[in-house]
Amino acid sequence: MRDKDYKEMVNAVVELSKPVHQSVLSDEAVGFLVTRPEGVYVDATLGMGGHTKSILDYTHSRCLVVGLDVDEEAISFSRERLSAYNGHVIYRNSNFSDIDKVLDSLDIREVDGIIADLGMSSFQIESSERGFSFMREEPLDMRMDPRLRFTAYDLINEMTMDEISRVLKMYGEEKWSRRIAKRIVEARDESPIKTSAELARVVSLAIPRKFHPAKIHPATKTFQALRIAVNNELENINEFIGKAVSRLRAGGRLVIISFHSLEDRLVKTSFLRMASPCVCPPGMPECGCGKKSILKIITRTPVIPGDEEILNNPRARSAKMRVGERV
Ligand SMILES: C[S@@+](CC[C@H](N)C(=O)[O-])C[C@H]1O[C@@H](n2cnc3c(N)ncnc32)[C@H](O)[C@@H]1O
Repeated sequence: MRDKDYKEMVNAVVELSKPVHQSVLSDEAVGFLVTRPEGVYVDATLGMGGHTKSILDYTHSRCLVVGLDVDEEAISFSRERLSAYNGHVIYRNSNFSDIDKVLDSLDIREVDGIIADLGMSSFQIESSERGFSFMREEPLDMRMDPRLRFTAYDLINEMTMDEISRVLKMYGEEKWSRRIAKRIVEARDESPIKTSAELARVVSLAIPRKFHPAKIHPATKTFQALRIAVNNELENINEFIGKAVSRLRAGGRLVIISFHSLEDRLVKTSFLRMASPCVCPPGMPECGCGKKSILKIITRTPVIPGDEEILNNPRARSAKMRVGERV
């Protein structure tokens, strides 16, 4: 075999063996986001660089994208994947709740659009070996940002039964939270729960078999809850939305894709709050609160993926995208 053919074959195999993260609602998101091809955009969840790549291609690389991710592995991966767009992407290993600090450090006051595609990438679930998947025997870590202090192992093995139950109920909307918490405490009394697969087994045993959900693994909600707690996800999203809207130029857009009801509810209520003008009680002769609407809601109902996208990318099935425009 010629050297060139061999290299091409190796490249093709490497490409195939990479855990490809298919960006969700990519065309729709970029269509809403880009209002000025030569603008400045923030991809607040760079991940494997899919949405950033779509923004750059859509604008024929006329724009600048500031890409943030808490996971340094995501930054390295995207830096390599997007190397052809040199000079058009600025990478920052930062939390999106610090978007104001990142933009200040770059001397950027306002941007034309900000996108956040919440949750985890396929890379994190399948290859990060941090215990995000209940299908794998991996250390119970679940930190997207390895700089965080507490892991899922710490929470599971150190929280009281009541605390575990509360976390599962609040962040997983898990109706079996008490039974699961009790089982976890019993199991860890024998020996600490060290891996994702061990935890998944304990949770499966806690829920009576006839009540196991038909379409998802019985530990899905527990894993979601722990991940949210470990990564402080809802607080970060809340902080991010307020700061993001304040850094958009008038007419600039905020696009957020969420993957479960807690995230979507938070996005929806934050958008509504910022879109509503006066909050004075009805019947007041004149406005005393002085509140003004700063966001126009572009998507009255969330945009969801079509059947074809879901067929090609089952991860997309729970996605909901909401878009707001700075007034
Ligand atoms: C669903 S993936 C994004 C995929 C990306 N849009 C793409 O098309 O390749 C979500 C990414 O957001 C990152 N992330 C989650 N929470 C974050 C936060 N608070 N700040 C910054 N990045 C965060 C995760 O580490 C992950 O890489």
